[in-house]
Amino acid sequence: MTRLALLHSTIRKEEKLIIESAMRKGIEVKPIDLRETILDPDRFEVDFDLALGRSVSTVKGNYAISFFESLGVPVLNSLKLATICQDKFLTSMCLLKAGVPTPKFALAFNLEKAIEAVDHLGGFPVVIKPPLGSWGRLLAKVNDMDALEAVFEHKDVLGSPQQKALYLQEYVEKNGRDIRAFVIGQEVICAVYRTSEHWITNTARGAKTENCPLSDELVEVSRLAARAVGEGLLALDIFETKDGFKVNEVNHTMEFRNSEEPTGVSISSAIVDYCLRYLKENRF
Ligand SMILES: Nc1ncnc2c1ncn2[C@@H]1O[C@H](COP(=O)(O)OP(=O)(O)O)[C@@H](O)[C@H]1O
Ligand SMILES: [Mg+2]
Repeated sequence: MTRLALLHSTIRKEEKLIIESAMRKGIEVKPIDLRETILDPDRFEVDFDLALGRSVSTVKGNYAISFFESLGVPVLNSLKLATICQDKFLTSMCLLKAGVPTPKFALAFNLEKAIEAVDHLGGFPVVIKPPLGSWGRLLAKVNDMDALEAVFEHKDVLGSPQQKALYLQEYVEKNGRDIRAFVIGQEVICAVYRTSEHWITNTARGAKTENCPLSDELVEVSRLAARAVGEGLLALDIFETKDGFKVNEVNHTMEFRNSEEPTGVSISSAIVDYCLRYLKENRF
């Protein structure tokens, strides 16, 4: 009987849905609370077939993924995939290299160079984001030089070393919504529109979801983006622009609680099925 380990910190609705889906398929799930675990290669007893990374904490998740991969356990998503997707700059570089349409971006380390970068991005407004971040936190839409100086000074004086890297992106007019596409392996299983009065359309910030039909163009760009970062269990943020779709970022520990109902697709079930398929096809 297949046994999946669920690597977690806080248990969210998503982890509950995954456990329920697995149980319905007769798959045993072993939840591993990383907050209570010692990753000791001499003492850790591996009694499962595959580890599914679902940690809200990136630090704990990364260490756990690399620990189990080093022990020879199959892990989804892989460390390589997680490393790319958790960093917006690495993701953007991967998308660009693979020819996936993506908003213009740059990374700068001081104010002078940030001002130059804004020029190259086409001028204000721009969006500044922490390269490692989620839930729309610490995003700044910078409309003018005064705002740029203020954001820079706050990061410079108050920020951690990580925040000295300024990831800048052109601001994309997106008519109050973006698209979240769920891509599992090479299959785009469903997508939602996320609509908000605010320019930040994360559901964690209150955006509403509704089904987004899967057009050929959306499927094609989503597949291309998934292939660019490495296939796995992915959720893509996509902007609709006058020049077609642009992939904004790729998430590797996706939240989907607000997307199953509008799409009518069981994302949790698709995740469990992919784990089984991955085990079978890679013959672990
Ligand atoms: N360049 C941009 N132009 C317009 N809106 C943006 C831009 N970047 C981000 N946003 C908005 O902010 C949201 C969160 O940004 P995102 O890059 O996905 O970071 P996070 O990892 O925090 O979700 C996006 O879903 C979108 O609504
Ligand atoms: Mg996002």
